[in-house]
Amino acid sequence: MKKGFVFDLDGVITDTAKLHYVAWKDLAAMLGIEIDLAFNEQLKGVGRMDSLEKILAYGGKKDDLSLAQKETLAEEKNNHYVELLQDLAPKDLLPGFKEFLDSAKAHHIPCAVASASKNAPFILKKLEVFTEFDAIVDPATLAKGKPDPEIFIRAAQAIHIAPEEAVGFEDAQAGIEGIKACGMFAVGVETTEPLHQADLRVKQLNELSVEELLQK
Ligand code: BG6
Ligand code: MG
Repeated sequence: MKKGFVFDLDGVITDTAKLHYVAWKDLAAMLGIEIDLAFNEQLKGVGRMDSLEKILAYGGKKDDLSLAQKETLAEEKNNHYVELLQDLAPKDLLPGFKEFLDSAKAHHIPCAVASASKNAPFILKKLEVFTEFDAIVDPATLAKGKPDPEIFIRAAQAIHIAPEEAVGFEDAQAGIEGIKACGMFAVGVETTEPLHQADLRVKQLNELSVEELLQK
């Protein structure tokens, strides 16, 4: 019997994954690096600086820049990304998410957000669901990013349950690995690539019922 839900944000609650892609693609192009959607899969769930490192390594420019230059580039990408977020509204919640969250609340099931994004509070406010969550893990306080399970362990702690008592929702392979590494039940929200190790795979949350998941 499960007692709580832990949600990733980008690609699970809203489709900001495509906006991250636009912002990274433009920044990479400025550096003379071309990235495509297949490469972008590797950036899902990965923190800002680690994403930049992956792009630089992909373009063979890993050792060309100082830390200060990398920080400036990451900030530029984020400024562009935040511009792209300005029009975000409740209509941008992914199909079935709000109904699922409302049902969880009706069942008095605590819900937490475990996102690598430092923009998560801003995005959740734009989507008008910020106050619906019992906890939002601050990724700035973590020692390790996904696929390390730390963020999921912290999310479970924040809603006062053991990881084994939680269901985690993820659209990124790195996230599914983190969920499984701490013994949570993993729901993979698949868009393009198959998510290995997920206990259950769906295209959208409207394929799931809260009652069914609590029995897992
Ligand atoms: C994750 C996204 O949710 O957050 C990644 O899947 C992103 O693509 C990461 O890099 C960090 O986001 P932000 O908003 O802090 O740059
Ligand atoms: Mg995601």
